[in-house]
Amino acid sequence: MKVEDIKNIAVLGAGLMGHGIAQVCAMAGYKVWMRDIKQEFLDSGMQKIQWSLSKLVEKQKISEAAAKETIGRITATLDLKEAAKNADIVIEAIPEVMSLKQETFKELDKICPPHTILASNTSSLSITEMAKATKRPDKVVGMHFFNPPQIMRLVEVIYGEKTSDDTAKVTYDLAKKLGKEPVYCRKDVPGFIANRVMTPPGIFFCWLISEGVIKPEEIDSVLHLRAGQPMGALGLMDYTGIDTNYHVMKFFEEREPSKFKVPPVIEKLFKEGKLGVKTGEGFYKYPEKKWQVPSAWNENTAKAAEQKFQPFWGIYLSVNIAAELIANNVATPEDVDKAVKLGFNMPFGVLELADSFGIDVVVQQLEELAKKYGNIDNLKALLTPHPLLKEMVKKGELGKKAGKGFYKY
Ligand SMILES: NC(=O)c1ccc[n+]([C@@H]2O[C@H](COP(=O)([O-])OP(=O)(O)OC[C@H]3O[C@@H](n4cnc5c(N)ncnc54)[C@H](O)[C@@H]3O)[C@@H](O)[C@H]2O)c1
Repeated sequence: MKVEDIKNIAVLGAGLMGHGIAQVCAMAGYKVWMRDIKQEFLDSGMQKIQWSLSKLVEKQKISEAAAKETIGRITATLDLKEAAKNADIVIEAIPEVMSLKQETFKELDKICPPHTILASNTSSLSITEMAKATKRPDKVVGMHFFNPPQIMRLVEVIYGEKTSDDTAKVTYDLAKKLGKEPVYCRKDVPGFIANRVMTPPGIFFCWLISEGVIKPEEIDSVLHLRAGQPMGALGLMDYTGIDTNYHVMKFFEEREPSKFKVPPVIEKLFKEGKLGVKTGEGFYKYPEKKWQVPSAWNENTAKAAEQKFQPFWGIYLSVNIAAELIANNVATPEDVDKAVKLGFNMPFGVLELADSFGIDVVVQQLEELAKKYGNIDNLKALLTPHPLLKEMVKKGELGKKAGKGFYKY
């Protein structure tokens, strides 16, 4: 199948992600069947699509006629068979529960024509496991949108163990037709690309806090005042929710216990219900349950903390885990950087930064961190420089200054 053969798309789930994905597909001209399990969920999804389209009309991004046509292309249904029987691709955005996804994929396998691609928008579950519920594992693929799908441009196209190149390519091409910027994630690794690369720094910082090496306001004063990060690292966790961060870290721990472990400070805050801004307290206090820069962040704290914390430590950890993705042929340097830039609104990719710092500097800094903090739980696994980085240093591929690193100059 080629992307041009796709005419009909089924989107399962009309929730936060599903309604947005359905809207994006309909705006690109596809006929869409959006399925949920209760009429009220369908109604709420359709209302949100209407609202979003009316905003686009208001801003003169689309005409009123185009908005009407878009809505006209979406059929909301409770009937899985009706939604999927003529679909060329199904994009599943139902709750993040493996048994539910497997049941659904098994049903879809029976209902859908043989050519239909079954894509999952899962953020964390294994595509390979979902594919096992079907007799077409070559046609099962990850299609990971970011929230909100109407705005975020990144889509990760994830291979399960048996996903065919054809399936991945059609999914990639479809993402482009939807106006997105896809990247290939060629293996089903926990966190895929963007979340995998961006998780280790937070885990590291929280372990340092757990062990009493440093205080949250010391890390964040440096990140805020020296590296221009508006919310710091721990402030950002308070903002996105300690519960969300706990679940992400727990997921990594369960999938890869040799590498990741939930830091005690996160576990404690989570169990005490200190979930961040929304509950009025997390790492910091928010009396009005609204985000504000904590008063503990200041120049004096930053100055004192500079002796024990440097703003680029997090980047070194991200580079380290990105090196593993590249060495294992999971992703190219270009796709790693595209994923972190688009997924996390970063101005630079972590590998672009590595090339600017110098790969030798990254290795040396990681070695120092491993020596200092590698004995804390399993931080050694995150801090020990990946063999690919050491090999690059040996070959003189030191980054910009050498004309070659992850990129050529
Ligand atoms: N929320 C995010 O930021 C985000 C980002 C990327 C990916 N995801 C992934 O997208 C998926 C959906 O997440 P969400 O945040 O939209 O969840 P959500 O709870 O907002 O929506 C899920 C919807 O699926 C419906 N549903 C349940 N069983 C169903 C079934 N059998 N068939 C059809 N619909 C069914 C529910 O009624 C609900 O409306 C998850 O796999 C999640 O990991 C979420």
